[in-house]
Amino acid sequence: MKEDTLWVEQAWKDTFEKVKTTSQEMTVSFPSMTENGIYSDTHKPWAWVVGFWPGLLWLLYEKQGYQPFKDIAIDRENIMDGPLDEFINIHHDVGFMWQLTSVKQYELFGNEQSRIRALRAASHLASRFNINGRFLTAWNHNDVNNADPKGLSIIDSMMNLPILYWAAEQLDAPRFKMLAMAHADTVIQEFIREDGSVRHMVEFDYLSGKVKQYHGGQGYNEDSAWSRGASWAIHGFSMSYQYTQEIRYLETAMKTADFFIDNLTDDHIPHWDFRAPRTESTPRDTSAGACAASGLLLLSDLVTDIEKKDKYQTAAINILKSLYENYGTYHDHTQQGILVGGTFNCPQGLGINCSLIYGDYYFVEGLYKLKTKLG
Ligand code: GLY
Repeated sequence: MKEDTLWVEQAWKDTFEKVKTTSQEMTVSFPSMTENGIYSDTHKPWAWVVGFWPGLLWLLYEKQGYQPFKDIAIDRENIMDGPLDEFINIHHDVGFMWQLTSVKQYELFGNEQSRIRALRAASHLASRFNINGRFLTAWNHNDVNNADPKGLSIIDSMMNLPILYWAAEQLDAPRFKMLAMAHADTVIQEFIREDGSVRHMVEFDYLSGKVKQYHGGQGYNEDSAWSRGASWAIHGFSMSYQYTQEIRYLETAMKTADFFIDNLTDDHIPHWDFRAPRTESTPRDTSAGACAASGLLLLSDLVTDIEKKDKYQTAAINILKSLYENYGTYHDHTQQGILVGGTFNCPQGLGINCSLIYGDYYFVEGLYKLKTKLG
């Protein structure tokens, strides 16, 4: 790495110290987003965010060996057996939930119970495949807009595919991988625009499999470019390429990455939607920056072209450094999150300029990758 690297060590150290403190203070089991600096609980053990806090603790534990982080991560994974057994409320985000927890614990310690949990989660995701439209159905209900949940798929799904690829390898069962690739191909077709911008929600006719309507979802409108959706695509397609070696996934990751990077402003942190009307006070979304940065580091490892490699790594480092320097809460003890400046859902006015647990997670994941590269 050419760039100066001292800040990476400092950021990692500061993050470890911050989380040591917040993990003791935190009264909630599954932090989601902050209100006045304090993390609120999801109150729903099946919510898509529940894996991020234990996942973040695993990353820090792995490098620091700090036992309380391991204890909390295992405790939260155990609680997540509730929704897995209950089954009825589970949706497509099982990758976010069990990849960062159960797959991680299995990789670290070979815990067979964790492996079975993740395999059950993958089986559930496979069961959400719509054979006519060749897409994974996102939700069981839809309170967001008037789209029929039976035919609704969303870009976030790209982050859930790795648990299918992983299950295919674990069980020597290519059917999981084939479903993941069929979905990824539909996403290329229907979600990724020619210019590399990304749609959030596509509603299909669940019987014919044909597209009925595009929805803006958490973006500004159906023609806009929600930045976290873009980050899900960059990161998700990079992981699909990592597991399959199919060049079309690498090309899609690069196309979405190029759009993302081209639309950043001087401080390297994306606005919440690249096409929302912009003023001085338009919110940014640090979680989109963090997720994209971690994905760009992976993409940089995967591409062979030296210029592209350098471009993606430099962009990732610029984002992470700016997050650390401009959005980190290290000296602000009133904030439980690591990063401020996250935007959960701008159209609904929810979670603007707060900490988001997935922003914190991907920031730590990005630092973890940089620290690993440095040795
Ligand atoms: N997966 C929902 C979100 O990105 O806010």
